[in-house]
Amino acid sequence: LILIVDFGGQYKQLIARRVRECHVYCEIVPNTMPVDEMIARNPKGIIFTGGPNSVYAEGAPRLDKKIFEAGIPILGLCYGMQLMAYTKGGKVQGGEVREYGNTKIKVDTTSPIFKGIPEESIFWMSHTDHVAVVPEGFKVIGSSDNCPHAAMSNDERKLYGVQFHPEVVHSEYGKNVIENFLYNVCKVNGSWSMTSFVDEKIKEIKEIVGDKKVICAMSGGVDSSVAAVLVHKAIGNQLTCIFVDHGLLRKDEAKQVYETFTEKFGMNLIMVDAKERFLGKLKGVTDPESKRKIIGEEFIRVFEDEERKLEGVKFLVQGTIYPDVVESGSGASAVIKSHHNVGGLPEDLEFELIEPLRELFKDEVREVGRQLGLPEEVVSRQPFPGPGLAIRVLGEITEEKLELVRETDFILRDEIKKAGLDKAIWQYFTVLPDIKSVGVMGDERTYSHAIVIRAVESIDGMTSEWYRIPYEVLGTISRRIVNEVKGINRVVYDITSKPPATIEWE
Ligand code: XMP
Repeated sequence: LILIVDFGGQYKQLIARRVRECHVYCEIVPNTMPVDEMIARNPKGIIFTGGPNSVYAEGAPRLDKKIFEAGIPILGLCYGMQLMAYTKGGKVQGGEVREYGNTKIKVDTTSPIFKGIPEESIFWMSHTDHVAVVPEGFKVIGSSDNCPHAAMSNDERKLYGVQFHPEVVHSEYGKNVIENFLYNVCKVNGSWSMTSFVDEKIKEIKEIVGDKKVICAMSGGVDSSVAAVLVHKAIGNQLTCIFVDHGLLRKDEAKQVYETFTEKFGMNLIMVDAKERFLGKLKGVTDPESKRKIIGEEFIRVFEDEERKLEGVKFLVQGTIYPDVVESGSGASAVIKSHHNVGGLPEDLEFELIEPLRELFKDEVREVGRQLGLPEEVVSRQPFPGPGLAIRVLGEITEEKLELVRETDFILRDEIKKAGLDKAIWQYFTVLPDIKSVGVMGDERTYSHAIVIRAVESIDGMTSEWYRIPYEVLGTISRRIVNEVKGINRVVYDITSKPPATIEWE
């Protein structure tokens, strides 16, 4: 176990991710956790994150110096390094200017954390304060033009501090630094995998749930499917899955979900036909955030109704994953969209939440799914947003418009598959903007909807690049859509990346 002590840095999840990429299990804990408790967890190493504070500021997070005396290797990043210096009797100075961005750093390659990396390379810096005097027993092992003490160490006590951020991709050899700390200093062997994550989670879920009943918000997407199967592995039929057909699903989706989860996994799955309920609530609503909030809230209401029928349900499982958490603004990041499974939750929620995938990135969720024996077509299924087609019909939703999205999306998926691109493209779908345009079919003038094709490459949904679908394939898709889907007379292709756009249009 590696503990990552959170001092409010925006990159804590990235640190966790890098550690896990080295196949080492880690947990993020708050800096308010008593030091004795941290030591009692028996970690093989500790990483301090960066943070927005200045160590001398009133109320700045500090740690009992016992933490440095327990013989546990520690790597302090940015604020973490400053805290280490300050606590061990060094001096931290407020800089006048902020040093920000790619920075050339010289390092001492004889240090175990810089083993095998060039003497000079680019690391990402983002700081104002810096360590002015390193504590007794420490030596300087890295510097930049503006920051003479960019890295320090006390090899005997296995304490390391770096002013830069090895966890971000801009740091050329950042991953090596983390790997070196883990393998050379903490001496962990890198044998952790998604299998151990699954085992840990199953244990944890069993403990939390006890003999209580659980329901699961199964949406058919990768996240909620994996969450449901994981919880089912832990507690079997104490779990009842509720699949809400909100009328905003893709073609044939409900049927496929039912077959997979009842037949293959023998899970308790209740299908709720709530089409009219949702469409009624969405009538006349055009604002994207309102749509998301309404759908999120209605979801919970439907569950509550089902729960009343089941009696005694205590927990609700949701397939929330890390990008949802970040983008819904829990933490320091600004609210970009309220993802229905986080931001839209009403305050009078009657269940306790179980969100076993909350810490994971999408690719990690897929890996967990494979470990659990989910079929590849579910695991590698492209992500589908909770609010479904509601956010792909821009503006007011009507059944007629939904049908246009369903049919065009079906053709798109069919042709992408035929072209052998279904694994290559991360996500692809159609969007119906609220515009009509003039066309001509036969000798007739038409005035019909335009449809947008969106296809993106991404790793975790946080950023994306538009996918270059070959022209011939686009041509076939376009021809089929205008020929087969009545009501569409124009097809356009979205060629924007995220940022500045988002993947969905609403
Ligand atoms: P955006 O549009 O924010 O989407 O760039 C990033 C990824 O998240 C999916 N998405 C959602 N997933 N609930 C979800 O579970 C939601 O409310 C939601 N909104 C967007 C989107 O499809 C893309 O994969």
